[in-house]
Amino acid sequence: MVNSKSITQIAVFASGGGSNALKIIEYFKHSEVARVALVVSNKQNAGVLSIAAEHGIPTQIIDRQGFYETEELLDILKRFEINFVVLAGFLWLAPGYLVRAFSRKILNIHPALLPKFGGKGMYGHHVHEAVKATGETETGITVHFVNEHYDEGDFVFQASCPVALEDSPEDIARNVLVLEHRFFPQTIEKVILAG
Ligand code: GAR
Repeated sequence: MVNSKSITQIAVFASGGGSNALKIIEYFKHSEVARVALVVSNKQNAGVLSIAAEHGIPTQIIDRQGFYETEELLDILKRFEINFVVLAGFLWLAPGYLVRAFSRKILNIHPALLPKFGGKGMYGHHVHEAVKATGETETGITVHFVNEHYDEGDFVFQASCPVALEDSPEDIARNVLVLEHRFFPQTIEKVILAG
């Protein structure tokens, strides 16, 4: 029997529909390695909040001022005994205090093969439109540690998929999301086990 104290408590930060958050919640639901103990969002009406509620996971809404001008979030994360953070469609740049408090314990997923198609403004459909516009023949996902710069932390995992000439940005997005759902939860688990 694993002592519950040794279970890694994950906070998932998400701003959108939360399909990755759902996969992560489900993957760790009966895990002895980790569980999702908190969902943090900057949007009051984010789909991820109802997903969390359906799974009985507490949620926390944050605002920009509190996030960047105070360190109150650290108290919240401490209260929920969080020791690992996962950004799953969370678009705000991580502030220094968060990166320092969770050194190599914050993972992000990016819907492209970094270092291509990364940086400020490169998120969601913007990424897939850029992939289409530049005529790439493949794209994919990158899971990386988070630092204080957009999409620049060390890579942990990449997987690719082909882009056909006739693929629309929506087609590309769909194929990339399949990779995200398949590989993100297990990559998180590997990093936690390695840490
Ligand atoms: C995912 O495709 C993720 O890679 C992307 O947002 C989507 C969230 O989808 N993140 C970024 O673009 C970060 N730069 P979801 O809410 O269904 O998980």
